[in-house]
Amino acid sequence: MNKVSDFNAKTWDQWSREDFVWTLPFSAEQFAWAKERDIEPILTPLKKAPLWWFDGLGKRVLGLASGGGQQGPELTAHGYDVTILDMSNRQLLADKLVAQREGYSIKLVKADMTNLFPFADQYFDFIVHPVSNCYVEDIEHVWREAYRVLRPGGALMSGWTNPIMYMVDEAALYSEDVPLEIKFALPYNSRLEEQKGLKITTEGGYQFSHTLDTQIGGQLRAGFLLKDFFEDNEENNRLGKYCSLYAATLAVKPG
Ligand SMILES: C[S@@+](CC[C@H](N)C(=O)[O-])C[C@H]1O[C@@H](n2cnc3c(N)ncnc32)[C@H](O)[C@@H]1O
Repeated sequence: MNKVSDFNAKTWDQWSREDFVWTLPFSAEQFAWAKERDIEPILTPLKKAPLWWFDGLGKRVLGLASGGGQQGPELTAHGYDVTILDMSNRQLLADKLVAQREGYSIKLVKADMTNLFPFADQYFDFIVHPVSNCYVEDIEHVWREAYRVLRPGGALMSGWTNPIMYMVDEAALYSEDVPLEIKFALPYNSRLEEQKGLKITTEGGYQFSHTLDTQIGGQLRAGFLLKDFFEDNEENNRLGKYCSLYAATLAVKPG
């Protein structure tokens, strides 16, 4: 793993120890309830991806950067054949523990999505990729690899952050005590900010805002066609009073 991914893997392990919301695995009750209701894939904090996104997709799914025992049980409960790729030991352990408790099998792959994905070409029917590309510097690589491992006609469902969130101190987003003022130029790149003196800690890890060009144009350049899009927000985020803070795309590999 490179320095950024190595640090971010430790950061996610730390957030898992602190019970951060995206590290809390499904309880037995949540898993039982998921089997009763329609699938509710969470790509961004509040909204659920539309059900029709799943129409005719096939069963073999990759949860890309999806450890934590949330996407795995959700997809398994709806009959999918699930592989989860994540680089955090604790996030993968959460999926393993839910699978053991509920008695299902799931493929758990420890890998860094900044490297080539450890899967054959055209292996998956679709990919679920909740907000996580803010932890990698080169997302065009991620789009290209996602395209490679999808079968023709397969789909990529991705959540990502509105770059505008990175113009301010992260602390200012959630605390009235920190001024909500523009501090960073976009695209924000914490590795470059570190070179200018910013201290990177496990409070936030290394993060990257990206541009709309790399988020949307990057998917198109990888070969995808965009089929749908929605915007979302986040509770208790002060910037959310002024604009939406997240987006999700449904991209299709032409068949
Ligand atoms: C917001 S969480 C998504 C999982 C969450 N449980 C969910 O269902 O939405 C982001 C995940 O991305 C993973 N991650 C971050 N950078 C990664 C990388 N370079 N390669 C693989 N996984 C990565 C983290 O370990 C974390 O589990």
